[in-house]
Amino acid sequence: MNTLPEGLPLGLQGRVVFVAGGGSAGPGYSIGRASCITYARLGAKVCVADRDRASADETTALIRAEGGSAQTFVGDMAVEADIVRIFAEAAEHFGPVDALHHNVGIGKTGGPMETSTADLDRIYAVNVRSLLTASQQVLPGMAQRRRGAIVTISSVAGQRYLGYPHLAYGVTKAALSHFTRLIALEYANRGVRANCVVPGLIDTPRITQTVADRFAANLAEAKAARDRQVPMGRMGTAWEVAHACAFLLSDAAAYITGTELVVDGGLVGKYT
Ligand SMILES: NC(=O)c1ccc[n+]([C@@H]2O[C@H](COP(=O)([O-])OP(=O)(O)OC[C@H]3O[C@@H](n4cnc5c(N)ncnc54)[C@H](O)[C@@H]3O)[C@@H](O)[C@H]2O)c1
Repeated sequence: MNTLPEGLPLGLQGRVVFVAGGGSAGPGYSIGRASCITYARLGAKVCVADRDRASADETTALIRAEGGSAQTFVGDMAVEADIVRIFAEAAEHFGPVDALHHNVGIGKTGGPMETSTADLDRIYAVNVRSLLTASQQVLPGMAQRRRGAIVTISSVAGQRYLGYPHLAYGVTKAALSHFTRLIALEYANRGVRANCVVPGLIDTPRITQTVADRFAANLAEAKAARDRQVPMGRMGTAWEVAHACAFLLSDAAAYITGTELVVDGGLVGKYT
């Protein structure tokens, strides 16, 4: 039984990986874009889904320029009919989805007095409700083939107060983690794994915008302050999150399900 394995099975050769939120909020590498490129480099056929066509097309073009396989699918993950349509289009194009990376995430700074019920509903629809419809599109096929993996992207903001109010974001990211765990446990003996990646402070184009909005006076100092918050002394890169996602989707993580992989440079272990 316990034979020596031939190597670390990190490859995704021939697998169809659907990334919901594979574009980027701005020029450069978001977590979704870096993940799409990483999966393609590991041999996957990548469904780059986003509501922003231009941004998704840029990810698809980057993959194709390296000789990888990718296709753009455009839809709003807050709209059930869009989700159903883009998964059908993806299956039509590449065949059944083997792996789902649920990457979409939005937020709004503010605590209870700055968050309206409409804000919470809107953020919940994108961050959490979308996973319900998305998982309904892939789980029956994955269970039938006894092969499937899901990775969702939560946040340390779903586990800790990070020094400023971010209520709707934190609450929905906490829900997403447990949602993932519940899928994992229900499907653990049906060949489907589900895990949650929990990024800390990551230097993506989105963050440049958020930081710029909050600290318009001095962007460089605001980013340096974010670096200083992290025990490792710097924000993470989108690639560092992508690599964790790729590991969890690969057979190298064959015995890992229902867990959270924190990618934060030590942030949640800090006492201040
Ligand atoms: N950057 C960080 O520091 C950080 C930290 C923790 C968690 N995260 C999470 O990682 C994920 C990616 O973050 P990022 O910084 O790369 O952000 P990003 O905004 O660049 O990436 C999100 C992508 O999702 C798309 N998207 C948003 N709403 C959508 C919708 N309704 N339908 C379809 N597509 C939609 C956007 O167009 C964008 O391309 C998010 O879930 C975010 O909450 C980020």
